[in-house]
Amino acid sequence: MANILEKTNLHLDAIGVSSPDQISALFAEVCREFDKQNSDLFNVGVSNLNQWEALRLSWLGRKNGILTRIADNWLKPVTPTLKGAVGQEFNKLRVHIEAALDSILEVPQVRDGGLAVDLSLPGITRPIGTRHLISQTYEELYRIFNSIGFSIVEGAEIETPYYNFEALNIPEYHPARDNMDTFYLGNAPEYLLRTHTSPMQVRTMEKQKPPVRIVVPGKVYRRDNPDATHSFMFHQLEGLAVDTDITFCDFKGTIEYFAQQFFGPQTRVRLRPSYFPFTEPSAEFDASCHVCGGSGCRTCKYSGWIELFGAGMVDPAVYGFVDYDAKRLSGFAFGLGVDRLAMLKYGIDDLQQFFRNDTRFLRQFP
Ligand code: FA5
Repeated sequence: MANILEKTNLHLDAIGVSSPDQISALFAEVCREFDKQNSDLFNVGVSNLNQWEALRLSWLGRKNGILTRIADNWLKPVTPTLKGAVGQEFNKLRVHIEAALDSILEVPQVRDGGLAVDLSLPGITRPIGTRHLISQTYEELYRIFNSIGFSIVEGAEIETPYYNFEALNIPEYHPARDNMDTFYLGNAPEYLLRTHTSPMQVRTMEKQKPPVRIVVPGKVYRRDNPDATHSFMFHQLEGLAVDTDITFCDFKGTIEYFAQQFFGPQTRVRLRPSYFPFTEPSAEFDASCHVCGGSGCRTCKYSGWIELFGAGMVDPAVYGFVDYDAKRLSGFAFGLGVDRLAMLKYGIDDLQQFFRNDTRFLRQFP
């Protein structure tokens, strides 16, 4: 026996239909076939407008659609006694098909040409990444400094020589510029990539009246050749505290608190005299080398110590650039090398690992 779609090519008497009962059964069969094709469009999960159009054409297409065939082969040639029943069933079928096709168009995935969603299918499991160790280190630093009242301020990586150097008491021909050579922007030498986060000291004091207690995270750039402890792009965290009664003891206490929180009690730290044009006195803060424990190795250049940061009491000359009263105010500032802090804390012997994007390395720090 021909299937229901093949039957639509034949007249009713050829398929043995001669009573009203048989007519409703026949149309019910057609209706089931349409419903099946219609639900396949959803369930296969690949519905889109093209497939919807193909289904519509195969059922409602004027030239060769199934309804046209039913009208031509079943309705038009039928005997007058059955004409009423066939006409009624035919109209019911047409209304059903048109409504079903219209309702598919309301499904956003079909309407927008995307995939239809079968909510009963299991979801797509995407691998979850981890935060980069540098980001994790920053978060740890924020936690420590937030806990003693420092807030976070961010600044731009593109700076002017004024904020990067001059306003920090480093005039144009000052020798301190030599070890902070950097990248200037193409034809616009009035802009450079900042060599440290210290420009934000000046920018913050320009905007904010004392007291100031801030830390400034961010990328900085220098013309340094890459090796185990250097990169041309690295990360710093600047700290600045200015108030009417800040002493060197507050400075030392803050640094010690940070070291104990960050490294734990086993790490040895030391302060040694240093020089920065924007701090007076200045100090260099070192920690014992994590690789050799202080006996000397390639990583610490055989000194036993790793330089962590430069720091000091804010030079009164800097207050002059921001209209702060140098007689009334005092403060301290520091600039941590975040990459080196992370190396020390997590026992990493090559700073370049941070920038190679090797997931075997990154996955070790979930
Ligand atoms: C400065 O950048 C000063 N702005 C720090 C400062 C701030 C001093 C406030 C006083 C007051 P220095 O050039 O030493 O200082 O750099 C700070 C830290 O950045 C270093 O101690 C080191 O840990 C890290 N560092 C420096 N150069 C590199 C590099 N090429 N690659 C990775 N880390 C570096």
